Amino acid sequence: MNDQQFQGMTAIVTGGAQGIGEAVARRLHKAGARIAVWDLDQELAENTAKILGNAVALKVDISRWDDVESACAKTLDALGRIDILVNSAGIAGSNAPVNEYPVDEFAKIVAVNLNGTFHVNRAVVAHMRTQAFGRIVNIASVAGKEGNPNASAYSASKAGVIGFTKSLGKELAGLDIAVNCVTPAAARTRIFDQMAQTHIDYMLSKIPRGRFLELDEAAEMIAWLCSRENSFTTAGVFDLSGGRATY
Ligand SMILES: NC(=O)c1ccc[n+]([C@@H]2O[C@H](COP(=O)([O-])OP(=O)(O)OC[C@H]3O[C@@H](n4cnc5c(N)ncnc54)[C@H](O)[C@@H]3O)[C@@H](O)[C@H]2O)c1
Repeated sequence: MNDQQFQGMTAIVTGGAQGIGEAVARRLHKAGARIAVWDLDQELAENTAKILGNAVALKVDISRWDDVESACAKTLDALGRIDILVNSAGIAGSNAPVNEYPVDEFAKIVAVNLNGTFHVNRAVVAHMRTQAFGRIVNIASVAGKEGNPNASAYSASKAGVIGFTKSLGKELAGLDIAVNCVTPAAARTRIFDQMAQTHIDYMLSKIPRGRFLELDEAAEMIAWLCSRENSFTTAGVFDLSGGRATY
């Protein structure tokens, strides 16, 4: 891979303050992209942007359309264009069987993971259509393919992200805009703090590789999906599950 492959390109990374998003931001930045880090955690987003250098940090709650619309306008002011969107912001929520799952928490997880994905894609696609170019990667989860027990809200929201990505990819297939998603298995990040240890053990036990996904492994696949070279593949679902899901 050309080490300045993303020179002259700009990217929004939601949830880019830490975890998978931060690894993607670092990977794209290293290859020349200018980055806008959108995150609910402003302090961490600013810190990540500072470490990257030449990057913008914005406090955004992706579950709120107004927030997303205004962040998109600010990003365009700062960077001039948006070539890439990696939508990594997301929450796991707690683990409980469906009959006990808190109703408000279910709604919140869907509001962030699914409605948030819609908001961010909606705002960015409006701009990408005008430049007839774009690369979008939504971070779904293997939970959206397989359905993890005691994680119904999370699994359902991520299945929604997969369906949304397929739909949007087809909508935009006539333009040089690629919309794909990835379905990672468990990777050790701060999102684990939201989960029960038994759930983390369950996820690990399901991975034939016998280990967690490394963040740089995820970033490498996502970077290719964001590249100009990915000029054909769209509406696709890319597996990152270490052999758990073979489809
Ligand atoms: N780590 C895993 O095991 C794993 C596995 C599969 C999929 N995923 C998905 O990957 C993505 C990134 O997860 P991660 O492991 O890096 O988690 P993380 O908790 O390390 O990072 C997520 C980031 O999203 C931000 N965020 C949360 N809600 C937000 C909101 N409403 N608006 C804006 N920002 C918000 C958080 O502040 C945080 O910085 C998520 O969508 C997650 O569901 C993670």
